[in-house]
Order: sequence, then C-alpha cells, then structure tokens
Amino acid sequence: MDMAVNVAILGFGTVGSGVAEVLAKNHTHIDEKVHAPIRLKYILDVRDFPDSPFGDKIVHDFSVIENDPEVDIVVETIGGAKIAREFTERALKAGKSVVTSNKELVATWGYDLLSLAKEHGVSYLFEASVGGGIPIIRPLSRCLAANEIEEICGILNGTTNYILTRMIKAGLSFEAALAEAQQNGYAEKDPTADIEGDDACRKICILGALAFGRHIYPDQVPTEGITRVTLADVAYADACGRKIKLLGRAIRQADGRVCAYVAPHLISSEDPLGGVEDVFNAITVRGDAVGDVMFYGRGAGKMPTASAVVADVMDAARHIKSMKYVAWGPGGDDVVAPTDGLESAWYVRASADADAVRAAFGDVNFLARAGAPAKETAFLTGPMTRSQVESKLAGLEKLSLFRVLD
Ligand code: HSE
Repeated sequence: MDMAVNVAILGFGTVGSGVAEVLAKNHTHIDEKVHAPIRLKYILDVRDFPDSPFGDKIVHDFSVIENDPEVDIVVETIGGAKIAREFTERALKAGKSVVTSNKELVATWGYDLLSLAKEHGVSYLFEASVGGGIPIIRPLSRCLAANEIEEICGILNGTTNYILTRMIKAGLSFEAALAEAQQNGYAEKDPTADIEGDDACRKICILGALAFGRHIYPDQVPTEGITRVTLADVAYADACGRKIKLLGRAIRQADGRVCAYVAPHLISSEDPLGGVEDVFNAITVRGDAVGDVMFYGRGAGKMPTASAVVADVMDAARHIKSMKYVAWGPGGDDVVAPTDGLESAWYVRASADADAVRAAFGDVNFLARAGAPAKETAFLTGPMTRSQVESKLAGLEKLSLFRVLD
C-alpha cells in the first residue's frame, strides 16, 4: 500500500453525503484497487451535523482545506457557478485535484478550469456531471477516442424523464408529476433548471465539448424544456406510436461546426430511447468507426451520482504522481452552427380546422385523440426546417410544435 490519500468534500448535501457513505461503506475494496488508503479528512458545510457519523469531519472555513498540504483531492458537490468556482480555483492553485458533479460549473467554466488544472499539474474530473451514475465522460474521451464523433443524442435529465413518464403512463398532470420527482430527490433545488431544459443544456455542452474538442457555452445552445408539453400532446404522440422525450443533441456539420440544442421530441416507441423511462438517462453516440453506441442507467439520485464521483476520486488517487488530463479547446463564434438549417418532421397541434392546415401544409398525417375540442387539429409534417414550419404556421393558431426524431 502507498501513503494515504486524503479527501475533502465541499457541500454535505445529497451528493456530498452519498460520496461520504460510499467511501465509508466500500473502503476495503476501494483501497485495494487504488493501492492506497483513501481517507475522508474534512467536509465543508455551513451547517453542523452532530447526529451524522461524519459530524466530526465538518469544517466551516475553506482555507482549512486549502492550507492543509495533506489534502490531495477535493470533491466539489456545492453546485452553482459562484462559490463552487472560487473554491475549485483555489483548490487547483493549491495543487489539489478536484472532482465534481457540478455540470453548471463545467459547462460554463470547464475550459478555464481544465487549463488551470493542467497549469498546476493536477486533475479536474467530472464523470458525475453528465448521466449521474452512467459512465459516459471516460468512454467518450478515451474508449471512443479513435472516432470522429458525428452525433450525440440523449435523454440527459432524470427529473424531466420521470415527469414525462408519469404523464404518459399514469396520466398525471405536469405539476403532480413534478411534485413526485421532488419528493424522490431527483429535481434540482430549483426545479426550473430541470423543467426549462437548462440542466440538459449544460450536459450536452459538456458532451459536445468532449466529442468535438471546443468549449460549447450554454448560451450558444437553443434550449426548450417540457413546461409546454400537455396531456393532449402525450395522447397525440401515443396515437402515432410515439412518446415525448426531452432530448439534448449535438450534431457535427459538414463544415466542422456543431449544431446543438435541447427540446422535446416525438420519438418512436420502438426507438431504444423511446423505452427509457422514469429517472433513467440514455445517451447515444455515433462515431464514424464504431457506429451507434448507447449508454443507459440511473441519471440522477444520491448513490448513482456518488458512484461516479467516487470513481473519479479513485482515478485521481491513482494518478497523484502522473496526472492525466481531459481537455478541450476554447469556445468561440466559429464553434456552433445555427439549428435553423436542421431539417426534421414536425408534430403540430393547432387551433385550426383541417382545411386550413391542408391549405398551409398540403398533405399531412392527421392525428386523433379522444375528447379533443372541436377546433383542435394535430398532425405530423414532412421534413422541413424550423423557419419553414413557422412560416407555414403563420396564419394558424399554434398550440404545440415539437420535432419528430427520425
Ligand atoms: N436534476 C438532475 C436530473 C440531477 O434530474 O437529471 C442529475 O444531474
């Protein structure tokens, strides 16, 4: 066995406490695999936890961790991009590797933090930032490294997938399904980030940066969440053998730029992504050599996320003396292409009669559902761009508009 590796956790919330539990519960085989005892030395939180078995490790001042030369690895599970960024920078500058589940921080400041880590000869690892417990960051950056990646497409948010599944399978309203997701601890503290698509947006930015080699910023990615999905849309999707899923996509264009966006889609119930339910996530990656590969598992929750964080801690511990780097290049206006050029079929629900729809769109595939109001019409179009479908809809009262995944 080598010398002990000391770890400090920042933030004793859902994920941070899960990390402490996994480190304690599995310490025998973790130490054996790393060939060194991994010791949890500190937990930083503003609160005290007198009843927790880890209560004696709590500190309230980050500089205790920063100035302790025995601390090798800092686990940042605070979340957000303010104090978490400050502590991450200070830890990296102090020569400590940092492991995080914080997708907001990686999506916003990943290029800068990875560069800082490299400058200081330490690692910045973030397997848990995408897909919870699903291994995706390492497979994408290492196992698929020989490929030119053509497309990444995934169900990247467990909360919204849970909500949509409960709407589809139990006929629950959006609000009732969201309340269930929160009770189960899946939703972010502020569920806006989940339901408005921001969480999925951050994750596709991270995957896109890894796959295509340049930082993609969240504000470069058009993002639509699931708040406009209704039970009427769920019923129409069912009528044509499809399900509504929130997808994040990043697609390489012929000119090398990346087209990335997040939006609800109608996808075939037969599609592997169509069978992904509840809090599960799934990510498909298309590489020019490997073809399609799919990653599937629990995308949210305390222990699945802790599983990925602890794996990064182990990786950082194994490489204390020989750092390995994940890296990508800087972002810029030349990285991202507008989504408008992307053709697809569209699902439309409108307050219009069928003749008006035919006059605007020509031949379309009309859909039916029980209990539809007299003037409601829903249909699937042929392939076209968003501006084409929007211009045909100009004279009609649009209620819902979602892409159909081929
Ligand atoms: N709120 C996130 C989700 C947690 O539901 O997917 C995992 O990133």
